[in-house]
Parts: sequence; structure tokens; C-alpha cells
Amino acid sequence: MSLLEIKKAGAPVLKEVCSPVERVDKSIRILLDDMAETMYKAEGVGLAAPQVGESVRVVVIDVGKGLIEFVNPVIIFREGCAKDTEGCLSVPNLYGEVERAAKVKVEFLNRWGKKKHLTADGLLARCIQHELDHLEGRLFIDIAESLHEGESKS
Ligand code: NI
Repeated sequence: MSLLEIKKAGAPVLKEVCSPVERVDKSIRILLDDMAETMYKAEGVGLAAPQVGESVRVVVIDVGKGLIEFVNPVIIFREGCAKDTEGCLSVPNLYGEVERAAKVKVEFLNRWGKKKHLTADGLLARCIQHELDHLEGRLFIDIAESLHEGESKS
């Protein structure tokens, strides 16, 4: 495993719409491993592939309940509405209020290419929506209602 460099806002790759993974092979499993290591080292709760310079639809998340790996994730159901503070490893020291769906259902492939579903609410639902936005080239600062500097974390 190796630590990857986290791209910061302004890097062109963060504005790209990412390509789907066509084959979930060893190179994807290595990317997943490296992304998880990089996320834990940076003390983040989620990381999307474009944040490490790879314009593919791969995401890792751990909101404190174990690592979840997503390949080609798609939100197939959303419900309700919730507003809370978000930050991002690509946007150091900036936080903002973002409105998201309160509950989402996601369809994705796991690291072996097997189709999975996950229903989430709370912080996990928020994190999923934040990371999937990265795959569309969208940062939370593009949609946040207010931005402020500081230490508060969602
Ligand atoms: Ni982010």
C-alpha cells in the first residue's frame, strides 16, 4: 500500500466527470487500498478517486463503522432533507452548510465486481452524497450555503 497525494481545490482533475470502471481488476483493488490508507492518514471520513488524481468512479468511506468501498456507485433512491456542516480533504480548513437528502440507497460494485446495495442515513448518507459529487466534478464549496474557516467537523 502507498500513501497518495491529495489534490487540492483548483486541480483540474477535481472538476472532471469521472469515467466508470470497466473491469474491477487488481489495479482497482490497489487503488482502493491506497485510497483507504490515504484517507485514514488524513483523518478523513471519505475519499473519492479524483482527489488522488484518478478520474474514475471509485470511493472509500469510513464514518467510524468500518471501511466501505464503492466502485461505480449510483444513488437509486433518496428521501427527505437534512442540512449540516461539511468539510473536505481537498478544501483544507473550510467548512460550510450543505443540504442533502436525509436517506439514500446506493447501488455499487464491491472490490470483486459484485453488485451490492446499501441504505444509509445520518453522516453516512451525507458522506456518500459528498463523495459521489466528487465523481461529477462537484465540490461541496460549489453548493454550500455559507462557508467559514475553522475547526468544526461534520
Ligand atoms: Ni470531499
